[in-house]
Amino acid sequence: MTRRRRRALRLVSAALGFAIIGLVAGDGEAAPLRVCADPDNAPFTSADSREQGMYLELAELIADRMGTRVEPFFFRTDVGRRALRPTLVAGRCDMFIGLPHATDRGPGATIALTRPFLEVGYAVVAPPTFILRSLDDLDGMSVGVLFASTPQTLLSVRDRVRLTTFRSTEAALDALAERQIDAAFLWGPDAGYRAARRGLLGKFRITSVTGLNLRWRAAIGVRAADRSLRDHLDRVLAELEPAIPQLAAKYHFPLDAPVDLAPAGKRNPFRGDASAVAAGRTLFNTHCSHCHSPNAANPEPRTDLRRLSTRYGAHEDQVFYITVTQGRPTKGMPPWGPALDEDTIWKIKTFLESVQRSDAN
Ligand code: HEC
Repeated sequence: MTRRRRRALRLVSAALGFAIIGLVAGDGEAAPLRVCADPDNAPFTSADSREQGMYLELAELIADRMGTRVEPFFFRTDVGRRALRPTLVAGRCDMFIGLPHATDRGPGATIALTRPFLEVGYAVVAPPTFILRSLDDLDGMSVGVLFASTPQTLLSVRDRVRLTTFRSTEAALDALAERQIDAAFLWGPDAGYRAARRGLLGKFRITSVTGLNLRWRAAIGVRAADRSLRDHLDRVLAELEPAIPQLAAKYHFPLDAPVDLAPAGKRNPFRGDASAVAAGRTLFNTHCSHCHSPNAANPEPRTDLRRLSTRYGAHEDQVFYITVTQGRPTKGMPPWGPALDEDTIWKIKTFLESVQRSDAN
């Protein structure tokens, strides 16, 4: 493409940019794209202009295509918490990059999401001789995890894994480099980025994993009222599809095909066992009834466990097992993996099978 053509295209897309966003600054330039970003969340976002992070660099590419520039709105988030309300929802920025692309955002939601642009997830960092095929491969090993992370919940029920809990990815990688642990089960992009900085990439293999809530697709969130901006972003993201993995690779995000760790064929071993129904009812009324009602007779659809069969069909056991062991901490369902053993969990399930109904409400 000639320089003139490129410039002409730039102008056209600039015009489109502000026509669609509907914001024009005084001097006739498209208004900047205001992006909410944590100043200290490398490799995703950073206030360090030499290394802004994958998401802010993506924002630059997007803004460039829209003929404008990025204006970060920096705010600090607590660990793991995405503060949408005081930032995006309050109108202090136009977009928030890196939200999980969930399909269950119904009408009335305050945020609209773009198409997913990247998959991110956990990964296991271990010596190159270690091949990960399933969670069983970690048996007998000493594994580092971060405090309160999904891998911690997942591995704490496995007697044969020796767990060491760390406060930071750096601390876990240092312990791995010093051979204090055999492997580290960490958030992939963090692990890749920080392993690269420590010169560990050649010495350890990073294996991405999926299943069991260990991986999700990242999208960009805008205010629900800004659907035209969302549609514009969707088109730009489609154009940027080839550039995005390059950007992720620049920050050493693991881009390998993930190994699926979902326990295929997790099934209730007590199905149809009448004594397990009675035992399960008692266990249920001890551990679960204060949120799910005595004997599971719960009128609230969200916590009504008499509809698991209707809801999940063939995946019922799988969903039950994963939900109970890992919980849904952001939605008020605590993880039981550390507290209840497998037999207890499946006895409770056997009781619930005896009360399933399709017309419960
Ligand atoms: C502190 C309250 C609380 C306790 C105690 C609790 N749960 Fe839950 N549970 C919830 C909430 C809230 C949800 C709904 C989460 C959501 O909206 O996705 C839930 C959801 C579930 C689901 C998923 C339901 C579905 O249809 O997707 C299962 C299965 C479940 N709980 C099982 C249990 C079992 C078994 C126990 C006892 C070992 C238990 N829960 C104890 C609060 C609790």
